[in-house]
Amino acid sequence: MDLYLDTAEVSEIREIAAWGVLAGVTTNPSLIARSGRPLEPTIKEICQIVQGPVSAEVVSTTAAEMIAEGRRLAAIDPHVVVKLPTTVDGLKACKALSDEGIRINMTLVFSANQALLCAKAGAWCVSPFLGRIDDISWEGMELIREIAELFQVQNLSTRILAASIRHPRHVTQAAMLGADIATMPAKVFQQLVKHPLTDLGLKAFLEDWAKANPKV
Ligand code: E4P
Repeated sequence: MDLYLDTAEVSEIREIAAWGVLAGVTTNPSLIARSGRPLEPTIKEICQIVQGPVSAEVVSTTAAEMIAEGRRLAAIDPHVVVKLPTTVDGLKACKALSDEGIRINMTLVFSANQALLCAKAGAWCVSPFLGRIDDISWEGMELIREIAELFQVQNLSTRILAASIRHPRHVTQAAMLGADIATMPAKVFQQLVKHPLTDLGLKAFLEDWAKANPKV
């Protein structure tokens, strides 16, 4: 499973990219707005840092406008994956842009049937939103399970991008269920590596070493 950052903050992307484990980035209109920077140079800069798939989302709502906007976004950099909402217009735009060879991330997926439609429309990946399902007291991970099984049984090659990840257990479970990608905020990335027993163990090793090798 590839690990992506879900952010438009370039400083966070630079930091995690330096770990050597970052495969891509997802953004959305809220994240771009929060960054306070214009879309195009931000996406370009992210692509240059990551050198992997970078999702940039349309803000138009009709198929014709999404197709035009999607083409503009795809022209920013070859790493751009165009993100479209899972609506009827989004599906039409997905089919048209996928037929042109543009990779599409279908976002705001909340059911296995939506994922099936997106795959049939040629999507490169679908983004089921785990955390937002948990927020309404259902089990977000069940959606990943259903989509993974459905895509396997139906032999569909569209990738599953586990999105709206809120904590490290989401990452483990999505990986075990066969999600192809998980996208998460920088905070969750940091939580993945951190463990108090690692810190305590390292401290004890270094103290023992220092005792046995006193500095003269
Ligand atoms: C994914 O592509 C979305 O940008 C993101 O994961 C949404 O997460 P949220 O529900 O925490 O806003």
